Amino acid sequence: MKLSDNKATLSFSNGSPSIDLPVYQGSVGPDVVDIRKLYGQTGMFTYDPGFLSTASCQSTITYIDGDKGELLYRGYPIEQLATNCDFLETCHLLLYANLPNAAEKEDFTRRVAHHTMVNEQMQFFMRGFRRDAHPMAIMTGLVGALSAFYHDSTDINNPEHREIAALRLIAKMPTLVSMAYKYSMGQPYMYPKNNLSYAGNFLHMMFATPCEDYSVNPVIERALDRIFVLHADHEQNASTSTVRLCGSSGTNPFAAVAAGVACLWGPAHGGANEACLNMLEEIQQTGGIAKVGQFMEQVKDKNSGVKLMGFGHRVYKNYDPRAKLMQETCKEVLTALGLENDPLFKLAMALEKIALEDDYFVSRKLYPNVDFYSGIVQRAIGIPVNMFTGVFALARTVGWIAQLNEMISDPEYKIGRPRQLFSGSVKRDVLPLAQR
Ligand code: ACO
Repeated sequence: MKLSDNKATLSFSNGSPSIDLPVYQGSVGPDVVDIRKLYGQTGMFTYDPGFLSTASCQSTITYIDGDKGELLYRGYPIEQLATNCDFLETCHLLLYANLPNAAEKEDFTRRVAHHTMVNEQMQFFMRGFRRDAHPMAIMTGLVGALSAFYHDSTDINNPEHREIAALRLIAKMPTLVSMAYKYSMGQPYMYPKNNLSYAGNFLHMMFATPCEDYSVNPVIERALDRIFVLHADHEQNASTSTVRLCGSSGTNPFAAVAAGVACLWGPAHGGANEACLNMLEEIQQTGGIAKVGQFMEQVKDKNSGVKLMGFGHRVYKNYDPRAKLMQETCKEVLTALGLENDPLFKLAMALEKIALEDDYFVSRKLYPNVDFYSGIVQRAIGIPVNMFTGVFALARTVGWIAQLNEMISDPEYKIGRPRQLFSGSVKRDVLPLAQR
């Protein structure tokens, strides 16, 4: 970051002396006012619940321009990455800041592939879960448990440990997600097959059984790979900020990523794809397209508590570029599988059309986000609805670990410790029980 010639001056109406605050410029995007010395100089904090105006860190990984609807990983537009690169190339880019050449890609793919199996003991750990447990509950436990199985890569101050932990997490997430699925189905786990692509291997572990040969459908493989690329990182979103905050205490990368999985689960974040599909199914069951207008009235009624899931975004105030790509993939997959007339897809298109023309959504700049279409694609692939967020977690793991490693290598890195505006009771005395 570069110190700007511009300075911010903070003045007070009560006569306290005004202070100058430095302003820094990034390579692109809004400048920031540096308030680190504010408390020391004035005895005041800033107040920004939800981080609406606060940059929590400096980063070189992902940039979003929400007004333009632009998403860049290390400077490359998401549209170009989704069209020209596969997920492992994207992982290389996020982790090491460059797109791999052919030799680097081969080497990286080999290194990831050598970590795809999980300790056999994890199967027994898995047995402790109820068969009907939500896959995200299982994933939170399994990812946290990796630190109990891989003690030799838990020292975040050791760059080699950080590198191995990153490879392990990227390699093992598909294995863990598919184990959670097989467990819920009562089917035997399928071991990873390292001659398959990253997405192909995941499909194999999810849908193959030991009794039959399974061949990967290339259209589905490409669609899944695109889902992974589109979800790989998204700058300082809630789960990534959770991973950074959790990791800032010096905890190990598996524990920090488990915290990210837990955060992602919520319906305002990664859980939105599951919530969106449930919403579409509910509208379908209660009348389908004919009921769309009535549903939209509920969404617009603030007292109903109903939201149009898969719509709106804290940062994108223009179309989410990932939603455009996902809509394209959705059409491709449905055509390849002969599901062009899928009623949920038609319903989603009808909802989108109404929303994009309705003043409620237009005036609030609410557009479809990536989750609006990703659920329909995953459902067509055969992934059960309650596994959607697990697939998101699998894809986002590389972003979490790249951001965590960036934070740890940053000379300005400190434990994250927000302050508060206290509005509770002032000091008072405890009365003896009989007098309360
Ligand atoms: N349906 C109806 N109204 C909405 C929606 C929606 N999906 N999203 C926002 N609004 C309304 C809000 O009620 C608010 O209205 P008001 O100004 O009259 O009070 C206005 O639009 C602004 O919304 P906020 O809630 O202030 O926006 P915020 O940035 O805090 O929330 C969020 C963003 C959480 C994504 C929100 O739009 C939402 O809940 N969407 C549905 C869930 C979803 O799809 N999440 C996925 C996010 S993307 C991802 O994680 C991959």
